[in-house]
Amino acid sequence: MTPPERVLGIETSCDETAAAVVEDGLRVLASVVRGQDDLHAPYGGVVPELASRDHLGALDRIVAAALDEAGLGLDDLSGVAVTAGPGLLGSLLVGLCFAKALAYRAGLPCVGVHHLAGHLAAAELADPSLRAPYLGLVVSGGHTALYRIEDEAPPALLGETLDDAVGEAFDKVAKLLGLRFPGGPALARLAEGGDERAVAFPRPLADAPGYDFSYSGLKTAAALEIERRRAEGGLGEEGAADVAASFQAAATDPLVLRARRAVREEGLRRVAVVGGVAANLRLRREMERAGREDGFSVHFPPAALCTDNAAMVAAAGWRLLARGERHGLELSAFSRVPLAELPWGRSGA
Ligand code: KG4
Ligand code: ZN
Repeated sequence: MTPPERVLGIETSCDETAAAVVEDGLRVLASVVRGQDDLHAPYGGVVPELASRDHLGALDRIVAAALDEAGLGLDDLSGVAVTAGPGLLGSLLVGLCFAKALAYRAGLPCVGVHHLAGHLAAAELADPSLRAPYLGLVVSGGHTALYRIEDEAPPALLGETLDDAVGEAFDKVAKLLGLRFPGGPALARLAEGGDERAVAFPRPLADAPGYDFSYSGLKTAAALEIERRRAEGGLGEEGAADVAASFQAAATDPLVLRARRAVREEGLRRVAVVGGVAANLRLRREMERAGREDGFSVHFPPAALCTDNAAMVAAAGWRLLARGERHGLELSAFSRVPLAELPWGRSGA
């Protein structure tokens, strides 16, 4: 079978409306991302109903902009890939219905992609020298999970968060510090000026075996610290930076610790970190330091490929199309679905 050449990717699982064209699974010809920050900022978080309505109004323009940027028409495409889950159901359905209709009208094959398979594909898209087997750490607003990535088997889940996702914890603590939504990047910026040893926040599950994570205790500890400092006469700019830096260290250390352990115990030599929180500079620094000390290579996509985008969806979809996977008009959206259970995972099985 001839592999598809140019795949249009569509991503609407949360609050980014995105479209991209990727050639041969590894060259990004165009990638357009439209965020909804201003829409959700007054509420301090993503409002699902508003998100899906906004996708509906924007998606056709975003797809047209991506084709325009690539200098291509529908006839130049070989397939359509769309995020089918997990995510906000209403938002997913907008992208899914659009992709199916477009593929039907253009006579193109269509595949549904798992959002995390997309995030993981971003690592190989950014660095084609990255070869399986490797450890895939997915850190985003909805997920915190470690996978063993193989070529011929579905991703094997080694561990995941038992409660909140790390990005969610960043966003909640940022909100408590009075930072504007989306809080994660704002908290990270504030933290750069603070002392990360100022507050000894807990490192949950640090001594527990295995690869699971927990963020709800850390979130509560940060909330209590902020409350205490406010009650004792104000947090102040310096105090807020210290709390932010200490929280950021406590949130990112367990990611590095588990990755180090997994690399050792699983006999791996490469680590790819993907998802929105992979844009975090402290996580990058500490993971790279661990890699130098323990002798594993560390692969972080550039920030634009870490947060939600459609190039990663097109890249993951390209692999599926290349091995003959096709999804018909009955393809539906899934709000929650494990990566390894799907026919839309990274590979075989
Ligand atoms: O992958 P993504 O765009 O969407 C989901 O699939 O969740 O990740 C968004 C998450 C948000 O929680 C955001 O606050 C966090 O990634 N994030 C960061 C940084 N940039 C984005 N967290 C910490 N430091 C950053 N620099
Ligand atoms: Zn994501």
